[in-house]
Amino acid sequence: MDRRRFLRVAGGGFIAAAAPLPLAGCSDAYPSEAVRAWQGPASDEGDVRRWVLAHAILAPHSHNLQSWLVDLRQPGEIALYCDLTRLLPETDPFSRQIMMSHGTFLELLDLAARRKGLRADIELFPQGEFGPRELDKRPVARIRLAPDAGVRPDPLFDQILGRRTNREAYEPREPAAKALQAIAASVAAHRVRAGFAAGSANALRQHRAIASEAWRIELETPRTVLESYKVLRVGPREIAQHRDGLSINAPLVRALTAVGLFDRSKAPAPGDAAMAGQIKDFNAKMAATPAFFWLVTQGNDRRTQVNAGRAYARAQLAAGAQGLSMQPLSQALQEYPEQAGTYAAIHALLEAPAPAHTVQMWARVGYAPPVQPAPRRGLDAHIVRA
Ligand SMILES: Cc1cc2nc3c(=O)[nH]c(=O)nc-3n(C[C@H](O)[C@H](O)[C@H](O)COP(=O)(O)O)c2cc1C
Repeated sequence: MDRRRFLRVAGGGFIAAAAPLPLAGCSDAYPSEAVRAWQGPASDEGDVRRWVLAHAILAPHSHNLQSWLVDLRQPGEIALYCDLTRLLPETDPFSRQIMMSHGTFLELLDLAARRKGLRADIELFPQGEFGPRELDKRPVARIRLAPDAGVRPDPLFDQILGRRTNREAYEPREPAAKALQAIAASVAAHRVRAGFAAGSANALRQHRAIASEAWRIELETPRTVLESYKVLRVGPREIAQHRDGLSINAPLVRALTAVGLFDRSKAPAPGDAAMAGQIKDFNAKMAATPAFFWLVTQGNDRRTQVNAGRAYARAQLAAGAQGLSMQPLSQALQEYPEQAGTYAAIHALLEAPAPAHTVQMWARVGYAPPVQPAPRRGLDAHIVRA
């Protein structure tokens, strides 16, 4: 085997949990400035809008793109926009996941407002809803915060700073039934159908097979794997500089990158050794996954997508409160032609016939070792100033 090529592709895993080699002086902890936002707002923060927003920017976002822009120039108001330079045109061609990622942001904003005894009046799409194919420059939401003695704090607020997307292998033991019930209850008020697969070997086998196939397709489709490479941040310098995207700080990948052996400008050739390794790694994680979770909606307009994002944020926070981890598995839900088969398969498995129904979120659930928080750019990076 050509050793040089092998090393290049061996580092090619953007989510590969390549066993880090113990290189002297190297740690895979992210630089502290990249994760400072997880300390929450400053205790002397005087503008309550900034206080709630400092929580909202900790929301999950597809590929950690953090496409949230907020305009605070109107006193007492927050206008939320989408940063149209932070989209995923290959894997999320209609920006469905981007809209969900605005829903997660609004849910955390709402939880934080409640904690302050404030009612968040959220008006979605105040200048009209985006069409089904494209986003534009109009606001996603206009939010006003109003004191309201009837507002109840929600215990999910307490999970915000500790929430993580966990991509580790999960323990094979089945989540407690009561824990799954608590997750389902957390989204009961939303217009979504939530469900779980757990305990049935046959159902788990079908979920794992679709997830694995969808993952393989995403890795083997050059333009979709390159889209992820573009937002890959390798090593402390890139992670601290960008504080977004998919971060890898594993010493092995850093070392290969430093000597030019991990080339992010090219998709790995189909069937090469490193890709096979990544597929194997993912399949092993699937095989150990004890449960899957999903959210299905009727219809798929922009409000429905935002609402599904709100529900997902609640479900993930509720899982955390139960000691459970989640990782979304978006590949089969993506609307690009190569995934048409897996898209149909997951919709059929979840009895959500398209196009009347949409599987908005599909995730694995389980008990997992803790992971570090993902980088955030910090509130000031989201504020529109011009
Ligand atoms: C709509 C949506 C889709 C996502 N899809 C995936 C996915 O397919 N795989 C994955 O590992 N994480 C996925 N995530 C999680 C994000 O990658 C994650 O939120 C981001 O990297 C920030 O990390 P954090 O959630 O730990 O803060 C998704 C999140 C959202 C909101």
